[in-house]
Amino acid sequence: MIGMNTQSKRTPLACKVALAIALCAPFLCTTSALASDDAGKKKADAACAACHGPGGNKPITPDTPRLAGQQYDYLVHALNDYRKGARDNAVMGAMAKPLTGKEIGELAAYFAGQHGLTTKP
Ligand code: HEC
Repeated sequence: MIGMNTQSKRTPLACKVALAIALCAPFLCTTSALASDDAGKKKADAACAACHGPGGNKPITPDTPRLAGQQYDYLVHALNDYRKGARDNAVMGAMAKPLTGKEIGELAAYFAGQHGLTTKP
């Protein structure tokens, strides 16, 4: 009787451990991707949302572009051009100058990952 009890308690514990590992594994794998997304979001919320809106999805004026869902490569290219002065815009030039290449990559990844324009069915 005692033997059976320990047996029946052991099995669920083993299952719980296996389940815990199975549930945690995907998080462990994606931690690094999430970390850079997080950095992009933090920077975007702090420096870009004032004009481009939360998630780059609600620009404050008609001449401020929507960034949400824009291509990653396009965003990197545009920010580098502003930074170098190849694309001449006083506002965005000032915004892009202090950015590092790493920050530009993080911001571009963040905005590219947002849902952009949607069309009504
Ligand atoms: C003070 C308002 C303001 C802030 C803050 C701002 N932007 Fe902009 N942004 C603009 C305006 C206005 C334009 C359009 C400029 C032009 O015509 O080239 C623009 C254009 C852009 C473009 C080009 C998009 C396209 O479709 O060509 C990118 C990329 C961009 N901004 C990224 C950012 C990022 C990243 C940040 C935060 C680091 C930021 N902006 C902060 C006002 C702002």
